[in-house]
Amino acid sequence: MTDYKELGLVNTRDMFKQAMAGGYAIPAYNFNNMEQLQAIVIACAETKSPVILQVSSGARKYANQTLLKHLARGAVEIAKDMGSPIPIALHLDHGDKYELCVSCIETGFSSVMIDGSALPYEENLSLTKKVVDYAHQHDVTVEGELGVLAGIEDKVQHEKSHYTDPNQVEDFVKRTGVDSLAISIGTSHGAYKFKPKDCTRNAQGILVPPELRFDILDECARRLPGFPIVLHGSSSVVPEYVEMINRYGGKLDDAIGIPEEQLRRAARGSVCKINIDSDGRLAMTALIRKTLGESPKEFDPRKYLGPAREELIKLMKHKNEAVLGSAGKA
Ligand code: G3H
Ligand code: 13P
Ligand code: ZN
Repeated sequence: MTDYKELGLVNTRDMFKQAMAGGYAIPAYNFNNMEQLQAIVIACAETKSPVILQVSSGARKYANQTLLKHLARGAVEIAKDMGSPIPIALHLDHGDKYELCVSCIETGFSSVMIDGSALPYEENLSLTKKVVDYAHQHDVTVEGELGVLAGIEDKVQHEKSHYTDPNQVEDFVKRTGVDSLAISIGTSHGAYKFKPKDCTRNAQGILVPPELRFDILDECARRLPGFPIVLHGSSSVVPEYVEMINRYGGKLDDAIGIPEEQLRRAARGSVCKINIDSDGRLAMTALIRKTLGESPKEFDPRKYLGPAREELIKLMKHKNEAVLGSAGKA
């Protein structure tokens, strides 16, 4: 058993308390490899932002759970070396089984998500409560989910979203004891969050997606005063990266994300955690394609992973400063 506190990590309790009081959201950035982790830590240490390092079960398998533990410890050390000892949590994203959550807690995670959102309500509730009962014995915080996001959640593809029913949130939070709750208000995973036919065009001809269901978010917040709400599927699918990918041989048609202004609005209110994975993937892919496209003779991975890492740092600093509002809050 590795206690996350020995790794220098923190759980999300204080992070969320301060985010709620300060009207900002904590960034939860997914990572799978060293360059992504370096970028997250450097961006967050330089902007003095608390951060949640987020690992899906697929990422855990890809990176190796033992290596992950040491990477997380390394992240804490790097931030200290930079003179910016920001709070860092290590969080399991979309845990689907009790045993997976237990295993993560035993290997140093400070926070886990148990995602029973595709299960019938009472089954989601009892699975979530079981995880909470175990996690809280180790002072690990737990995120639950109500409502289903469209798109890909690890191995599960949901064709249609089901918005969260605000009538269920109080009962779910009270009976499970979760520390935060992910809700579904129109975001979705991946780079194709909206169909062009459901969007309108602005004066510049750019596709503008329908607004998120802020009425549902507000009603959930009214039923759960002061309680941290989480938004998944919150990448903006930055058009410059999509364009760069396509210019250098990629083929991402009709990729559309969540406008930054809507994320800003959510972060100012009761949303305390915003999940971002796809934007990082797009930035990295764009810079790798550009570098190799312009320098076809290059075969030293550092020569294309280096610029990709630099771009990721730029992207995350921008998000912390201009979208989530977490910069300067550590
Ligand atoms: O919500 C899903 C995350 O973007 C993780 O994706 O399961 O492909 O690692 P992944
Ligand atoms: P995006 O695909 O919008 O980045 O969402 C990531 C996410 O919700 C991870 O849990
Ligand atoms: Zn998610």
